Amino acid sequence: MPVAIQPFPRTPESHVNFGAEVLHVDIEKLDDKDFEAIQDALYRHQVLLFRGQKHVSPEAQYQLTKRFDPTSDTYGHGKDVPNSKQSILHPDLKTIPSVPQVQVIGHGFVKEFEGLHDIQLRHPHHRTFHRDVIPADKDLDYTRFYRWHIDAALYGRYPPKVTTLLAVSVPKGRRQTLLYDDGSGETLDVPLGTTAFVSGETMYERLSEEEKDFVNTSKIEYAPHPYIWMSECHSFPTGLGLYSENRELSEDQLPSIEKDKIQILPMVWKNPVTGNPALQIHPSAIRKIHKADGSVIDDLKTVRDIVYQLQRPSISPSYVYAHDWQEGDFVLFHNRGLLHSVVGAFADDEVRIFRQCNLAASVNELNPEKIQEVYEP
Ligand SMILES: [Fe+2]
Repeated sequence: MPVAIQPFPRTPESHVNFGAEVLHVDIEKLDDKDFEAIQDALYRHQVLLFRGQKHVSPEAQYQLTKRFDPTSDTYGHGKDVPNSKQSILHPDLKTIPSVPQVQVIGHGFVKEFEGLHDIQLRHPHHRTFHRDVIPADKDLDYTRFYRWHIDAALYGRYPPKVTTLLAVSVPKGRRQTLLYDDGSGETLDVPLGTTAFVSGETMYERLSEEEKDFVNTSKIEYAPHPYIWMSECHSFPTGLGLYSENRELSEDQLPSIEKDKIQILPMVWKNPVTGNPALQIHPSAIRKIHKADGSVIDDLKTVRDIVYQLQRPSISPSYVYAHDWQEGDFVLFHNRGLLHSVVGAFADDEVRIFRQCNLAASVNELNPEKIQEVYEP
């Protein structure tokens, strides 16, 4: 049967306008025609769900991820990040020995998985990153967005086009209440360990004309070695960026900085199939804003305040797609058109195993010198 694309059901109160299930596909056995249909659907729907893919090998996961950018071959954060003790990403990633572009993520102790032995996985917990945390006795009932982000090194490597996630083991049966805890009173009922997505296209569309003009013509400079730089910082309770408390590591506390690896990227990235603009900013890693007139906003708190105002309206509950993971779910998402966040707090005996793959892009299509080719407002 030919590949079929079934958009996720919409509810009247939801503003989520993305996501689709793909039917009649075995990711282990994709032909060129299947891939063309998947690629087109990915850019139109941003998130694609393939059910029943538990059998898919790490190699097939890597190959599908690579097909979106055939000359890419390195994990999105490079080879070193999973082993770099200074990076805040280090504890969350275990590299599969036979296919090092694929990482194991999850929670709990795993005796053997894909050539890894006696591994202790750790689901990121908001208490390791947020300044004000949910009390321990409420930890199983309530949760937060851990950190809204784009999967990207943002230093020396170009942002991956897509990310793939495979749910191998999923503890079931609980739901949690996600708290925004920012004075808005907003909450969201979520399945345990959901991955939350919001659309960068919607985030852009909801801006005022004045804001659109600003984001169309401004660029973001990211901090060098951002995941080390931010390692002592604390996040807002919404997971949407950081408090400005002078906790960022100084240049002499960071690995040496190569100026040409610092990334200055447009705020708005264009969908390669539909042409739609998406507001794509990794709020925790931002350092400066370069404006159209050549001036630079480099006061960190001001930069963070500006970006927060642009992004916050579009992470409200009705804009969030919170995926309810089933074992065998394979999710492919457009990393340049969405922000996403880890969510949830597992008990010690709840074991979860996922595989994740994304690849640093082979070409910098987001090079600011080429912005007019990428996005013409
Ligand atoms: Fe991610």
